[in-house]
Amino acid sequence: MRRIGVLTSGGDAPGMNAAVRAVVRKCIYHDIEVFGIQRGYSGLINGEFQQMQLGSVADIIQRGGTILRTARCPEFVTRAGQEKAINQIREFQLDGLVVIGGDGSFRGAMALGDTGVIKTIGLPGTIDNDIACTDVSIGFDTAMNTITDAINKLRDTATSHERVFVLEVMGRDSGSLALYAGLAGGAESILVPEKDFDINHICSRLIRGYERGKLHSIILVAEGAASGIAIGEAIKKCTGMDTRVTILGHLQRGGTPTAFDRNISSRMGAKAVDLLMEGRTNLMVGLVAGEIVGTELSYALSQKKVLNEEIYELAKILAI
Ligand code: ADP
Ligand code: F6P
Repeated sequence: MRRIGVLTSGGDAPGMNAAVRAVVRKCIYHDIEVFGIQRGYSGLINGEFQQMQLGSVADIIQRGGTILRTARCPEFVTRAGQEKAINQIREFQLDGLVVIGGDGSFRGAMALGDTGVIKTIGLPGTIDNDIACTDVSIGFDTAMNTITDAINKLRDTATSHERVFVLEVMGRDSGSLALYAGLAGGAESILVPEKDFDINHICSRLIRGYERGKLHSIILVAEGAASGIAIGEAIKKCTGMDTRVTILGHLQRGGTPTAFDRNISSRMGAKAVDLLMEGRTNLMVGLVAGEIVGTELSYALSQKKVLNEEIYELAKILAI
């Protein structure tokens, strides 16, 4: 293993820079040349490679986003696009590639690894936490803390005005962010795409809470479950309660990564280089019961990450 490339792909996530830093410095420690690839698979196709030195990743561990930039690249989903990428890989004589992204990016990494031209390792980088074979993905902890901080802030104004607040959060088709942040924030109801919900039941709980003297309520809505605006309108219509809606949006993708995200990112990045040095390919690195392990990409991509039922039920009990 003489030359390794690293790229970030798909939605950016806090902690990606810590992972890039670990890949670069671990490679240099083992006298392996390392190239940063700009803008995900678009940069791979266009040969936007830059050799990295120790100083290239100085002062970035605390920064959100990705110094390598990221992109969504429909061309790479095509055979022709992948062949362009293979030509660049041959031109730069890369032996290994670390792809930091979500499941879509992993499918791209597997397509490259299957050619036999380059060995590929995926790191789970997405705030959605929708990747199987890892307890959490890079960026999830930071995004969860961002949402929890938003709930704390909303509680102040909700209490002052005795209002219901609906907070819509990201997660694409996963309810993981909404669930864990809702538990941490003490939300009265948490709507996730994995579970059906009855707006009339939600409203009757709100009315019962109000009659019990509750000064405010927070309803967390995962974007994959429903529109926060629609839920707010339904609650206002059904209960007559003063209701406001906040859509947190891309705030959840930024911010300085938490210590937890920096640590798992650093450990995963180093593990990726170890696996490539061992000659392994088409694996993803994950955090499983506290250990950093490699899992076959083909298996990981065949699995669907399920919502934690125990936490879902606990969140309901504690919000009563
Ligand atoms: P994420 O990696 O966060 O899931 P996307 O689903 O947008 O984000 O995927 C990121 C990029 O990965 C896409 O823009 C595309 O270039 C590449 N990609 C996604 N799916 C595939 C696929 N099936 N085969 C090859 N490349 C893919
Ligand atoms: O996959 C991460 C994510 O933030 C999703 O939660 C969200 O639905 C999507 O990306 C937004 O995509 P974009 O940044 O392209 O608007």
